[in-house]
Amino acid sequence: MHLSPVQFAGSIDFMMTTVVQPTVAWIPGPILGIETSCDETAASVLTTDGAVLSSIITSQHAVHRRFGGVVPELASRAHIESIEDVSSEALQQAGLAWTDLMGIAVTQGPGLAGALLVGVNYAKSLAYALNIPIVGVSHLEGHIASAWLEDPAFPLPCVVLVVSGGHTHLYFKETIRQCRLLGATQDDAAGEAFDKGAQLLGLEYPGGPAIDRLARQGNPKAIAFPRSYLKKGSLDFSFSGLKTALLYILQGMPEQSRAAKAADLAAGYQEAIVSVLIDKALAAVRSTGARALAVVGGVSANSRLRALLQQRATDEALQLSLPPLAYCTDNAAMIAAAGRQALRSGLRAPLDIDAHASLISPFAPLI
Ligand code: KG4
Ligand code: ZN
Repeated sequence: MHLSPVQFAGSIDFMMTTVVQPTVAWIPGPILGIETSCDETAASVLTTDGAVLSSIITSQHAVHRRFGGVVPELASRAHIESIEDVSSEALQQAGLAWTDLMGIAVTQGPGLAGALLVGVNYAKSLAYALNIPIVGVSHLEGHIASAWLEDPAFPLPCVVLVVSGGHTHLYFKETIRQCRLLGATQDDAAGEAFDKGAQLLGLEYPGGPAIDRLARQGNPKAIAFPRSYLKKGSLDFSFSGLKTALLYILQGMPEQSRAAKAADLAAGYQEAIVSVLIDKALAAVRSTGARALAVVGGVSANSRLRALLQQRATDEALQLSLPPLAYCTDNAAMIAAAGRQALRSGLRAPLDIDAHASLISPFAPLI
């Protein structure tokens, strides 16, 4: 495959930090996934073949809303309160007993240290009590795996755009185990740009869905916002200038106009984020020669992004994977899916695995 002119910064194998060579082969069976990296407590059961038997998500939005963002200490406490119920419900909905489980996958990072620890400690206790293998999964690896949850036949190689609250990363995924970083944000992540923009517009947390809803009543062309493409051919992103542009536009407006133009402001701001994401993702597709594109992570739930992507993919005869909304934002089915691949590959973690708030480290040399 022709890969230039993209300069690959490096490649990633499985992103787990702590891996041991198993002495006993994995006995295939149902897998429990656990996700507690931020403000969702989630548990999910997948079959050996990767079918989702259950996916339970408890959101803490109501806890954090009045603070305008996630409060780490409150997140940890809320995870402790919910983890047992959420996991039991995942088992119950799957119609299984604890002893039916043959493996556990848990988000090891990146995320909030205290929040991650709740999931990792719970998962380790279960693995010990049930005497089954455990794997630590990178949250990003989980988001990437979500592209195959509903469409296991989605082809490789493909380009994957991960757009979440903390990350905006473009990858070229060649095989199940290998991913190459093509570009990443230099400042704010796309979800962060939505959340910060929403805060400036006086909308509630989380800002992405709030802007998405308001923008449906607005004209994306009414107010011009800057689009940052960085240097020619770059597959990196930058969204901090956009947020500043919104701030200046709002400061230059009388109070009544701000309210009257709120929907146009939301639509224009959203359009600037979405159009750069799509243009760069399609540039990556052209540069790599891939014929398939997956867009995953919380921002992939955005209705305008989904509509425009579907249109562009049809125009360019590209295969597109956009996970169903329940698998865009944080969930444990994606963690179980990534963990399933790891277990099938013979990987597992020791029982002393720890949470890693910046598990981004395997990526660090690549950025
Ligand atoms: O993947 P995710 O649930 O958590 C992280 O890994 O960060 O992504 C959360 C991000 C938030 O910034 C949220 O505002 C954004 O995804 N988001 C959206 C939409 N739904 C969630 N952004 C734009 N439009 C949406 N509909
Ligand atoms: Zn996420």
